[in-house]
Amino acid sequence: MMMGNTGEVMNRAEMEARLAEVDLTLPPPEREPERQYYFIRRLREWADHRKEELGRTLTANITTFGCQMNARDSEKIQGIMQMIGYEETDSNSADFILYNTCTVRENANLKVYGRLGQLKKEKQENPDMVIALCGCMMQEKGVVDKIRQSYRNVDLIFGTHNLYKLAELLAVKLLDQPQRKKMVVDIWEDAAEIVEDLPKERKYSFKSGVNIMFGCNNFCSYCIVPYVRGRERSREPEDILEEIGSLVRDGVVEVMLLGQNVNSYGKNLKNPISFGELLRRVERIEGLERIRFMTSHPKDLSDELIQVMGESKKICRQMHLPLQSGSSRLLQVMNRHYTKEEYLALVDKIRRAVPDIALTTDIIVGFPGETEEDFADTLDVVERVRYDSAFTFLYSKRTGTPAASMEEQVPQDVAKRRFDTLLSLVQKISGEKTAQAVGTVQEVLVEEVNDQEEGLVTGRTSQNYLVHFPGDGSLVGRIVPVYLEESKGFYFMGRKCVKK
Ligand code: SAH
Ligand code: SF4
Ligand code: F3S
Repeated sequence: MMMGNTGEVMNRAEMEARLAEVDLTLPPPEREPERQYYFIRRLREWADHRKEELGRTLTANITTFGCQMNARDSEKIQGIMQMIGYEETDSNSADFILYNTCTVRENANLKVYGRLGQLKKEKQENPDMVIALCGCMMQEKGVVDKIRQSYRNVDLIFGTHNLYKLAELLAVKLLDQPQRKKMVVDIWEDAAEIVEDLPKERKYSFKSGVNIMFGCNNFCSYCIVPYVRGRERSREPEDILEEIGSLVRDGVVEVMLLGQNVNSYGKNLKNPISFGELLRRVERIEGLERIRFMTSHPKDLSDELIQVMGESKKICRQMHLPLQSGSSRLLQVMNRHYTKEEYLALVDKIRRAVPDIALTTDIIVGFPGETEEDFADTLDVVERVRYDSAFTFLYSKRTGTPAASMEEQVPQDVAKRRFDTLLSLVQKISGEKTAQAVGTVQEVLVEEVNDQEEGLVTGRTSQNYLVHFPGDGSLVGRIVPVYLEESKGFYFMGRKCVKK
């Protein structure tokens, strides 16, 4: 299962072939993605010229906030920038600086404003620098106005629905002289189409996220995602399977299928297909070793999915099943469409079919009107389910969501105290769970050479546990059996086994 790089060459070659077909003497094509390849080609010619003038390469620094969706979007951005001819860097004086933003909680927004402030000096030193913003925060009302007023150094803003147009927008900024001083802003209310076949650059050679759907229709009352990511849209199964097939030819052994609610995948397609059926088809892709997915909304989790997981050899023994609250009363106000009892019954059903499954979750503390009793229900569910790990969040008020106008916002000190109580319970249980796994042998996909300690590599088990063990770079991208020697709380120290 060594990574062959013939696939990689092929993929690149295909993209390059597309680029070579572009005729710059003609006006830009109307069709996508042809139109974007046209602008990539124009920008590449500009970039080649610019590099010669400067006597150096051009660099791009892309920072990603938020979830896996954004991480995947950043890989698409990176793919386009590389094709134009920018090299990746983490320097703050790069020629192209982009923040792919998140707005799910307020502190995510504050971080971006902080960074933009810091860039003022860098931009004075490198006036050629292009500062770009995209992602969920840009789709929020008022944000673009605030940036126009207070952060004049920003050059380019686009949103979550038109990311595929990056090359075209950048061409406006860089090539159309009259625009050079102006901020280029293009934000769409909702998505027009799903554009396939644009370049993507992967952070890891051996694993990749794959979007199966975009947007969300659930409108949980605290959540801003449906407003900034638009309505739910599924990709055609053929497009997904083709993408995964090509990733596998390119050395990928693990995919993470991405959607805000993967359990409702395919329902709105012209030829509807269930998520379980999609998984069955993905399973059949030869050379693919591991399948993960997120996120599963408990309200839509089907018996079919549980059955598919029970039968599958490739789906990892891990599921992220956001709880949000253990109180049936609050769950209703949150618009989650399940009760405490239904959630617990669902967990039982999943565990019966897949006994060794690791369950993880998201929990919000301090939702408006949360009483001590509601909170006790949350602690109760955590104790009963015994999550392998849990992300805990302090409720953050998001303007425009129904919860923002609910009275009885919980005082900060109360919320903070509950948060600390929950966090220590979650950590205690997760420590106990990892301790139980000591002494077992697990298949580990090696992800990287450990940069903290020489001679160690780091990987993940099927249950998504992190393991460090002695080894070298030749193991990266391979799945090997590892004996878990010691638990360190949220990770293990292990030893590679000789093949059984
Ligand atoms: N679609 C996914 C989650 C996307 S947002 C799902 O349904 O689970 C990731 C997590 O952020 C959510 O699960 C929720 O726990 C948290 N979150 C969302 N809005 C929030 C808010 N206003 N305040 C605090 N946490 C929030
Ligand atoms: Fe937000 Fe709910 Fe949609 Fe998840 S399912 S993105 S929490 S609205
Ligand atoms: Fe954040 Fe957008 Fe994801 S708001 S959590 S980056 S969908």
